[in-house]
This record gives sequence, C-alpha cells and structure tokens, in this order.
Amino acid sequence: MSIYEKIGGAPAVDAAVDLFYRKVLGDDRISHFFDSVDMDAQIAKQKSFLTMVFGGPNSYTGKDMREAHKHMSLTEEHFNAVAENLVGTLQELGVAEEDINEIAGIAMSVKDDVLNK
Ligand code: HEM
Repeated sequence: MSIYEKIGGAPAVDAAVDLFYRKVLGDDRISHFFDSVDMDAQIAKQKSFLTMVFGGPNSYTGKDMREAHKHMSLTEEHFNAVAENLVGTLQELGVAEEDINEIAGIAMSVKDDVLNK
C-alpha cells in the first residue's frame, strides 16, 4: 500500500496541507517567504505534489524542486523549520508514527534540490 493510501488518500492530504500552511504562515522563521505568494495556488500545488510523491494519482504540473526554490537562498534552518511544521501537522492529525517517518524520509529526499546543493 502506498503512503498515500495508508494515511487516507485525498481527504488526508487536503487536511494536512491546509494545516501545514497555517503553521508555516504562523512561523516567523519562514512565513516571510510566502508574503507575496498566492496561497490558494500554493496549497493546490502542494496537494498535487505530495499526492504524487506519496504514490497517489499524478496530476502535478508545477516546477521541479530545484527550479521552484533556487532563487530563494534557502538555508538548512529554513528547511528544518518546514520539516518540523510538516511533522507537527501529521502528529496533530493523528498520522501513525511509522507513516510520519516515511513521509519525513520523502521530505529529506528533496532537501538537496530545495537547498540547491
Ligand atoms: C520538503 C520540502 C519542500 C517541498 C516538498 C516543497 C514544495 C513546493 C512546491 C510543490 C512548490 C510549487 C512549485 C511551483 O510553483 O511550480 C513550492 C514553491 C514554494 N516553496 Fe517550497 N517546498 C519545500 C521546501 C520549502 C522551503 C524550506 C521553503 C522556505 C522556507 C519553501 C518555500 C516555497 C515558496 C515561497 C514557494 C512559492 C514560489 C512562488 O510561487 O513564487 N519551500 N514548494
């Protein structure tokens, strides 16, 4: 079973991404990156990206992770803050620990691209 199915499919991804960006926008380590971003569009893109990398239906048409983030000069601290908000979101939604670990691993797998390393 894919991690997408394990956590509960589209409704679970929808709930997670909505809560995740609420946390991100409330986190002053990283919220400024989103000041001029259309958050409805961002939320939609993130839902389709995570659906794809979690093994659900692939409808992602956005940029690859290196292209999307390379102009932002992101640091390890920024990445860790995002990862922390993602894990906190999944914990709050009651996702099983082993599933959270799998998702954290997926997030780590794009780290070098996001940080343009
Ligand atoms: C696991 C790590 C991450 C994933 C999976 C991820 C995913 C994405 C995706 C799918 C997009 C949309 C790309 C497009 O527009 O086509 C995006 C854009 C963006 N990401 Fe990330 N991201 C990650 C880390 C970060 C970090 C660490 C930051 C900053 C703290 C960040 C800030 C942004 C911003 C500001 C945009 C919007 C760009 C714009 O529309 O101008 N992301 N990200």
